[in-house]
Amino acid sequence: MKRSTLWIAAAALLGAASVALAVKPETASEKSVKKEEAAKGAMGEKEKALASPYPNDLGPEALPDEVLKSYPANVQAGYKMLVARCSQCHASSRPLNSRFVEPDGGSDDAKQEAALAKLKKEQPDLFKDGSVWQVEVKLWNRYVKRMMNKPGCSISKAEGKQIWEFLEHDGVQRKTGANAAKWAEHRRKLIAEFKAKYSKRYEELAAAKDL
Ligand code: HEC
Repeated sequence: MKRSTLWIAAAALLGAASVALAVKPETASEKSVKKEEAAKGAMGEKEKALASPYPNDLGPEALPDEVLKSYPANVQAGYKMLVARCSQCHASSRPLNSRFVEPDGGSDDAKQEAALAKLKKEQPDLFKDGSVWQVEVKLWNRYVKRMMNKPGCSISKAEGKQIWEFLEHDGVQRKTGANAAKWAEHRRKLIAEFKAKYSKRYEELAAAKDL
């Protein structure tokens, strides 16, 4: 090989090496751009969540200790997860004071259907005012997934499952049976307050049957 050819080969190698070196920082910056975009997504969702208030938001952001202590350990863990993770875009008051109730039965749809039929028969009041109670099979399950699909939401599948376990148990405990009347009073108070404070949004939610 001639000396000049060697130089050309060496230069080509160096060139390739510098291209290879240049690639690394590029991927790193691409990553940070992705992170920024995810943060912006979460920002957008947060702005959306805050610009669109719900009566739920006017209620407490935490459960009373004595209520929490009466729940099984896995449900208590789900509650802690909710307080930590569902407060990224709106306060935890939004899920905690929601009208949503998912019947008992866990991930067994047939059991939930049976529990729903039983509620309809034994507690017909729960189906008379949709702004106080909305009782549906898999309702929280769907809702947690909907929240998880929002841009910028980093709740993992395992965390989502834990939160759903809490929401299913807590809804039945706190909003039905012996606690139904207390829940109705709480929820109606929030709606009246909301109507006075955000009358336009109140009409909007009422028209969309999302109240
Ligand atoms: C990435 C942002 C974000 C996160 C995280 C988030 N939410 Fe939301 N949430 C929203 C927005 C935006 C709305 C307004 C309605 C909509 O867009 O679905 C909302 C609305 C709600 C509502 C009101 C629905 C209604 O019609 O009454 C509930 C309940 C709720 N979220 C529960 C949760 C729960 C439970 C979690 C945690 C698993 C959670 N959210 C986490 C953004 C978020």
